Amino acid sequence: MPKIRRIAISTGGGDAPGLNAVIRAVVLASIQRGWECYGIREGYNGLLTPDLYPEGGVFLLNRASVAGITHLGGTILGTTNRGNPLRFPVEQPDGSIVEIDRGDELVERFRAAGLDALITVGGDGSLSIGYELARRGLRVVGVPKTIDNDLDRTFMTFGFDTAVSFATECLDRLHTTATSHRRIMVVEVMGRYAGWIALHSGIAGNADVVLIPEIPYDIEKVAESIRGRDKGGRGYSIVVVAEGATPRGGEVSVLGKAVGQAEKLGGVGEKIALQLEEKTGKEARTVVLGHLLRGGSPTSFDRLVALRFGAAAVRALDEGQSSVMVSLAPPTVRYEPLADAIRRMKLVSTDSDTVVTAREIGICFGD
Ligand code: F6P
Repeated sequence: MPKIRRIAISTGGGDAPGLNAVIRAVVLASIQRGWECYGIREGYNGLLTPDLYPEGGVFLLNRASVAGITHLGGTILGTTNRGNPLRFPVEQPDGSIVEIDRGDELVERFRAAGLDALITVGGDGSLSIGYELARRGLRVVGVPKTIDNDLDRTFMTFGFDTAVSFATECLDRLHTTATSHRRIMVVEVMGRYAGWIALHSGIAGNADVVLIPEIPYDIEKVAESIRGRDKGGRGYSIVVVAEGATPRGGEVSVLGKAVGQAEKLGGVGEKIALQLEEKTGKEARTVVLGHLLRGGSPTSFDRLVALRFGAAAVRALDEGQSSVMVSLAPPTVRYEPLADAIRRMKLVSTDSDTVVTAREIGICFGD
């Protein structure tokens, strides 16, 4: 295997707290080995559309570039969920969008830039691209990122703990206003087709109802549990709903879908609030936490995991590994084949002790 001298790092998909910590660890661990580390701007756009970046689509990251960024949200490289090189959206003269495969061109541009290996930090989309680039000849190591925690073959992704902590703090705040007004507060959280954020924040934040995609809900059951709380004198209820939650026999609530992008989920919270007002005669309000869950400073847990992931990714390249993903397997980190990591989405297991605990402390799942 040829010796590594220059590596590149790319962050793709939705941002997540901890990305900058990964970048810092990758850069410092590379410098320690005598390697150079380059950042690719906004996914792979820095290589594919360099003209968009007058300051350089690919740029050298040194100690100064990563000083004091561990605690910062976002990513100093920028990110995108539109620049899939394998399905690159190109606008046609008539305004329509056609997707083309620029994967081979990306591999060529990568090599022409003198880069020997790639660390890709992302969710299922970015890691699938990483897998394909490895198949086409690049040396690639993936780092699992997403607030949704829906990536398989890792105990947890970084970003998730920060999202759950923030959602929990919001639920704490909503309790006092819900109690004062004797209202139903419906809190919609992100998570795509998995209920991790809703489940964990719902339990930690003392929600009364938690609705997740893995357990389709019956709105009548939800209303019944709220009426039961009212009879018991509680007067208010907190309902946490994952954006991907679906009514039994119904569909996920989709706001839209653009070419080359994933479905945009949302709106289920408002629907549920209206239905609950009708069924219980109580006032209901909806709070959508949305992108707030992706912002802010990573928790110390996420910082540490992100730094460990970054350093482990460089270690993997140094050991000659490729087409693997760094994975958290407490108490250690290890490596999983990228092919296995992207095979399926990690959903909440409905018989897990977390779900059982929730039921045992009286949380209603609407089933
Ligand atoms: O995957 C992270 C995530 O925040 C999901 O929870 C959410 O459905 C999606 O990204 C939103 O993406 P966008 O930034 O395109 O609105």
